[in-house]
Amino acid sequence: MKHAVSLTVNGTKQNAEVEPRLLLVHFLRDNLGLTGTNVGCDTSQCGACTVFIDGQAVKSCTVLTVQADGSNVMTIEGLAANGKLHPVQQAFWDKHGLQCGFCTPGMIMTAYDLINRNPNPTDDDVRHGIEGTMCRCTGYQNIVAAVREAATRMKG
Ligand code: FES
Ligand code: FES
Repeated sequence: MKHAVSLTVNGTKQNAEVEPRLLLVHFLRDNLGLTGTNVGCDTSQCGACTVFIDGQAVKSCTVLTVQADGSNVMTIEGLAANGKLHPVQQAFWDKHGLQCGFCTPGMIMTAYDLINRNPNPTDDDVRHGIEGTMCRCTGYQNIVAAVREAATRMKG
């Protein structure tokens, strides 16, 4: 039996009938075509699926779509505005905070959440803040530099 849900995703109202078991990450990717949110593990380990729900970063593979009913969801696609990269996205680009890019959407959403909560993160703060988000390529050094740079830019 399907359930009706109504949620706002990146500023657009979305009404749908979904299976109660449908994970939010699959709703975003398969129903809405927002494939920037990746699925890396499906078991809450990797953070590739991180989105914002009502202003809080969450791993969308741990949320059922019906649980997000009535909420405001922002995905990586909602971060850039007017064709311009968000300062966190720009900092990752400028500091080479990625290689294959698979972890990058989740990493950027996690970084954005971290900076919102701590506008002046140290290297240790960043390493602690992103520990739930895995990267298999970079060795993290450039990611830490990108998040520090993003924090500086967001102050501006
Ligand atoms: S896919 Fe959600 S944490 Fe890995
Ligand atoms: S850049 Fe490849 S997993 Fe992070």
